[in-house]
Amino acid sequence: MQNIKLTIDKAFGFVSEQAVAGYKAKVAAANADLHNGTGKGNDFLGWLNLPSSIDEAHLADVENTARILRENCEVVVVVGIGGSYLGAKAVIDALSNSFDWLITDRKAPVVVYAGQNIGEDYLYELQELLKTKKFGIISISKSGTTTEPALAFRLLKTQLEEQQGKEAAQKLIVGVTDKARGALRTLATQEGYKTYIIEDNIGGRYSVLSPVGLLPVAVAGFDIRQFVAGAVSMESLCGTETAFKENPAAQYAAVRNELYKAGKKIEILVNFHPKLHFIGEWWKQLYGESEGKDNVGIFPASVDFTSDLHSMGQWIQEGERTIFETVISVNEPNYKKVVPIDAANLDGLNFLAGKRVDEVNKMAELGTMIAHIDGGVPNLKIELPSLNEFYLGQLLYFFEKACGISGYVLGVNPFDQPGVEAYKKNMFALLDKPGFEAESAAIKARI
Ligand code: PA5
Repeated sequence: MQNIKLTIDKAFGFVSEQAVAGYKAKVAAANADLHNGTGKGNDFLGWLNLPSSIDEAHLADVENTARILRENCEVVVVVGIGGSYLGAKAVIDALSNSFDWLITDRKAPVVVYAGQNIGEDYLYELQELLKTKKFGIISISKSGTTTEPALAFRLLKTQLEEQQGKEAAQKLIVGVTDKARGALRTLATQEGYKTYIIEDNIGGRYSVLSPVGLLPVAVAGFDIRQFVAGAVSMESLCGTETAFKENPAAQYAAVRNELYKAGKKIEILVNFHPKLHFIGEWWKQLYGESEGKDNVGIFPASVDFTSDLHSMGQWIQEGERTIFETVISVNEPNYKKVVPIDAANLDGLNFLAGKRVDEVNKMAELGTMIAHIDGGVPNLKIELPSLNEFYLGQLLYFFEKACGISGYVLGVNPFDQPGVEAYKKNMFALLDKPGFEAESAAIKARI
């Protein structure tokens, strides 16, 4: 296996190579703070050595639970929000057939998601669909009290018990939650659900290599051993022993902090394959919640190219020059498709005949990079040799490690998210939740 590769030289027309090299000591100190537990939020570092601490017994147990769900379900609903679903969805989408739900000779259940919104139509339509399906539920909530997944789980659990009977339903529900606290833990204990623990020291957005990510990925039929192996290799490469120039997490943390200092306030994660869309969603949570606080932080955005070149492409090329791009590039697609010759050539595309579709995509990628650099947009590139479990494990761990380092270099605590409480407090006050009487009176006086 090779490694994913970060290239940052296309940022050097905008920030100097020397300035980025000047981060060497700061980045090393941040990396050491992570490993020594001497930085902010040091009670949330369980993700750091997680890949290498996963043992055979744990993998076999997760695979066995996944097998039971696979054998008994046509559909598995992953219930969770934020870090409790984005990682699994990012990996499953990236590895799945783009038209997965239409495939009839399936080897794995269709994985769908709930509890990541409060859309009534979404829940209604899901429940209608499930009426005729054998389904199971993986309910994921670290706190066990988050409103969105708790609401969805209440509806789905009731439906499953009505359709299958209580005893059968108990075998088709798996809880992934805190080891002792929260409503989901209490319920799982009462009902005898199979459960997995999210350790206290692993925050939601850093949990993809815990059972939060591993179980749904295994249910979807993918190789979690390769996924973990990729992460293990990246854990080693991004460690404190690796020289600054060879450490991709250190390089990424350094260059993005220097770009931010130079006024590049927005980072756009770009993909050229639609199945990578949710990698962007996962990455936005990771970097947005980790760095956006204390009135600082790069705003993380994402686009799907070439689709979004026909919409956001205009803004990126000629809008305010406060952006830089990080492109995820897949060197070799999993399949081959060649452009056919056409006798009439009415579309004028015969100049492409015999070329692979990916060659067209790659030239779009290269042309876009040059155009955007010419237009004032620095470009970072992350190459994946191909799209598989191993390289996704590398990619996701690389982003986690770089995020921890980058947050420390920025001077924030990359492991808390105090800002996400504000909307919850208002929502509970508006819904007259017991205990929120004072907030309720105060907010209702404002509307
Ligand atoms: O990053 C985080 O910790 C949050 O976004 C959580 O992932 C999200 O709120 C879900 O929380 P929980 O797993 O406790 O339901």
